[in-house]
Amino acid sequence: MSANELVFTNVTADRAEEIANLEQMALPNVAGHDKLTPEGVILQTQLFPEGGFMALDGDKVVGIAMGIFVDYDISEPQHDLDEVSGEEGFGNHDPDGEWYYGIDIAVHPDYRGRGIARRLYDLRKQLVIDHNRKGFIAGGVLPGYADHKDHMTAQEYVDAVAAGELFDPTLSVQLRNGFEVIGVIADYVEDPTTDSWASFIVWHNPQYDPEKA
Ligand SMILES: CC(C)(COP(=O)(O)OP(=O)(O)OC[C@H]1O[C@@H](n2cnc3c(N)ncnc32)[C@H](O)[C@@H]1OP(=O)(O)O)[C@@H](O)C(=O)NCCC(=O)NCCS
Repeated sequence: MSANELVFTNVTADRAEEIANLEQMALPNVAGHDKLTPEGVILQTQLFPEGGFMALDGDKVVGIAMGIFVDYDISEPQHDLDEVSGEEGFGNHDPDGEWYYGIDIAVHPDYRGRGIARRLYDLRKQLVIDHNRKGFIAGGVLPGYADHKDHMTAQEYVDAVAAGELFDPTLSVQLRNGFEVIGVIADYVEDPTTDSWASFIVWHNPQYDPEKA
């Protein structure tokens, strides 16, 4: 089964529980309070239904990706997820915000490596293009850092991943999808295996027209 055989569509409130459960399963090392809740999914569908996507295999949700529009100064990578995202991870959606801020992406472990994340990133990039926003930003977990944190700083680790010297199950996928790393974030989401370090990544919209913004 490839991503082409799945249906990609916007998230709907009736799937809120299933979507939250998928993320809980996909990020086993991240603390529960930093993960998507059914209430968060419902808020996405109420505030910004175009901003959240899911991949369906028949009736089963096998991938999700969510986000909101915000204003953000990307020269300052360090930030707190809750402060930027707001209530239940979505409350700060600003329809006029300059950036799409990626809140979550998760693919069911049995469905990885088939291009589902690529399709979910492409759908969100198209949203950014269609709305003429500056680009797509996100904090990214660094699951592979767990095996290197005793001999490398998080910055050294992301530099090595960006240089192709190390593979990170999340950051390497993001880099292959056209993102660049512009910093590291301390205490982004609670994950004892990586001492809670994250990357700060950006994709610039090549079609952004400031005159029309
Ligand atoms: C990160 C995640 C969403 C990726 O989903 P996915 O559907 O498996 O990703 P895709 O199949 O679209 O892409 C995998 C890419 O990594 C590449 N890849 C896989 N293993 C690789 C390896 N060992 N070395 C180099 N590249 C590799 C694949 O070739 C593919 O690249 P391509 O599209 O250029 O061919 C998924 O692993 C996941 O849910 N992880 C847990 C949740 C998570 O970390 N979310 C991010 C929160 S910030």
